[in-house]
Amino acid sequence: VVRDPGKGRDLPGGTVAVHSDVAAAIADPAVGVVVELIGGTTTAGTAVESALRAGKSVVTANKALLSARGPELFALARSKGVGIGFEASCAGGIPVMAALTYGLVGNRIDAVVGIVNGTCNFILTQMTREGQSYGDAVAGAQKLGFAEADPTMDVSGRDAAQKLALLASLAFDTRVSEEQINVEGIGELSPSDICFAGELGYVIKLLAIGQRASGSLSLRVAPTLVPKSDVLADVSGSFNAVSLYGSAVGHCLFYGRGAGSLPTASAVVSDLVQVALGTTALAQRSMAVLANEPSTPLLPFDRLMAR
Ligand code: HSE
Repeated sequence: VVRDPGKGRDLPGGTVAVHSDVAAAIADPAVGVVVELIGGTTTAGTAVESALRAGKSVVTANKALLSARGPELFALARSKGVGIGFEASCAGGIPVMAALTYGLVGNRIDAVVGIVNGTCNFILTQMTREGQSYGDAVAGAQKLGFAEADPTMDVSGRDAAQKLALLASLAFDTRVSEEQINVEGIGELSPSDICFAGELGYVIKLLAIGQRASGSLSLRVAPTLVPKSDVLADVSGSFNAVSLYGSAVGHCLFYGRGAGSLPTASAVVSDLVQVALGTTALAQRSMAVLANEPSTPLLPFDRLMAR
């Protein structure tokens, strides 16, 4: 389903029906799974909700929708015996949601530290390595196509906060929404901040951090001083990386492309296969994925301390 069915597309001739009616596609009995890649919370929200109501599993890349309405939509999916695949909603092609759901299930996760916004990482890399101005670096990111339609979602840190809300909800078996996260973007950084950080042995990265802190959870997205010797300091350009700290496995690092059509497609196909196998609905029902009430108190913003 596309906005403009008349636009030329490179699709296998005669095998793919292209039209513009979302409701008709969802109602079509031949459609077993609905893949939502619209973005935003309005049209996409209606599409996802009506697909689930019709008893169809959904695969989505929509972090804004899930961070705003995740628990309600997951509850609806469970009540209908279907599932929601959402690997592409965070860190694009990196299978970090699968790692948290399945691979690291034997661990208590103590911390999540991520570079989860490719646009900000690209901008900071250009400012650090090429000495570019903030404005030129933003324009470069838009030209290369990984910025959101409205790049303020990226540079304000909100996109990263939506991703951290999902990562933290899964990692810490709790319920976190975007507005509970202390967010600071990269718009106030100047070339001299980056230069001074470099002289002191650091690079500045926009980090999304969730960690257990004596009975509470500390959650924040902010430009952060990362020692040049830290592996995250070398994550450059539009690449993403997520460090997970598990009680049994210790430090695990996931690195890869967090944006772009093919990395997103990689995650979407993985979700489709899991839906087809029946794993998504089964796991989400049996393991209460994103089903929990807020279980751990969040550290108040004024008690967060960081470099
Ligand atoms: N605008 C996002 C980014 C795209 O730059 O990381 C992927 O969510």
